[in-house]
Amino acid sequence: MKDRLLEVKARALESFGKVKDLKELDEARVRVLGKKGELTALMKGMGKLSKEERPAIGQLANEVRTAIEQDLEKRRTQFEEQAVAAKLKKEKIDVTMPGKKSSLGHIHPMNTVIEDIKNIFIGMGYEIAEGPEIEDAYYNFTALNIPKGHTARDEQDTFYVEGEGEFLLRTQTSPMQIRVMEQRKPPIRIIAPGRVYRSDDVDATHSPIFHQLEGLVVDKGITMGDLKGALEVFAKQLFGEDTKVRFRPHHFPFTEPSAEMDATCFACGGKGCRVCKDSGWIEMLGCGMVHPKVLERCGIDPKVYSGFAFGMGLERVTMQRYGINDLRLLFENDVKFLKQF
Ligand code: DAH
Repeated sequence: MKDRLLEVKARALESFGKVKDLKELDEARVRVLGKKGELTALMKGMGKLSKEERPAIGQLANEVRTAIEQDLEKRRTQFEEQAVAAKLKKEKIDVTMPGKKSSLGHIHPMNTVIEDIKNIFIGMGYEIAEGPEIEDAYYNFTALNIPKGHTARDEQDTFYVEGEGEFLLRTQTSPMQIRVMEQRKPPIRIIAPGRVYRSDDVDATHSPIFHQLEGLVVDKGITMGDLKGALEVFAKQLFGEDTKVRFRPHHFPFTEPSAEMDATCFACGGKGCRVCKDSGWIEMLGCGMVHPKVLERCGIDPKVYSGFAFGMGLERVTMQRYGINDLRLLFENDVKFLKQF
């Protein structure tokens, strides 16, 4: 019995030494320790031993079992460690490999122009003002000297909002003049860029939604000379030092006198080309001295204070600057188009 136990042990350890993986190790274990295993069979035969033999053989059998189990455990750990090492090696990250590029968006040319214009005016000490796109008709029209019955109020031109009171999508940024003058005391120096809406059908030069930028300066002793000076500096900074400006008389209900300002064409320098339709000039903005009635309505005494205002369409400036010939391109958000600027 003793010899057979030692034999089983020797064979078991030898067979464990030959296995190549965990699966084979488990098969070898079953052959020795399983229900029908060699050691199990021997142990079953212990009942037939004499009383004198039993303790010594019993002890030996236990030692053999422990030795076999310890060897099994040792080999299992070895295989497991090998497996982990192999897995780590396979999954090693090559930090020198080029990464996946996430594609960045692109700044819209309109935003570039708006930022440039903002920076020019901030440089001259202006602040940025913001206001609602759904506007009270009082601010959009009445307070700006555009009374009931004025053609600008026509339903054909304006998106009215249903409900109590008279509200609409603002048709211009000029209501910001009123909002600012109601809230602050002069000196006032602001610009207000933003979206405006008019009931126009979409074509190459029209869109029901577009952008304007309003400007307003109110202080003691502001004259038309200040208006011309500020806007000339602005035009030169936006289009280049050689730019010249000219003012043509015009009419706006909320300014008196009113004018439109043209700048020499930045593409041809004034000689005449496709951009300026051979005139040498491009129309830039409307402007004027704030009407005394408008000041008065906002609680500013026109005998003490005066001011100038201006407003410009930003799509046109953008299209001229980048040579874009169709307004729709600015709203379609085609990345292939936007990436050119
Ligand atoms: N709001 C005018 C428009 O949409 C533009 C304008 C003209 C604004 C003269 C002004 C201004 O501030 O003084 O046509």
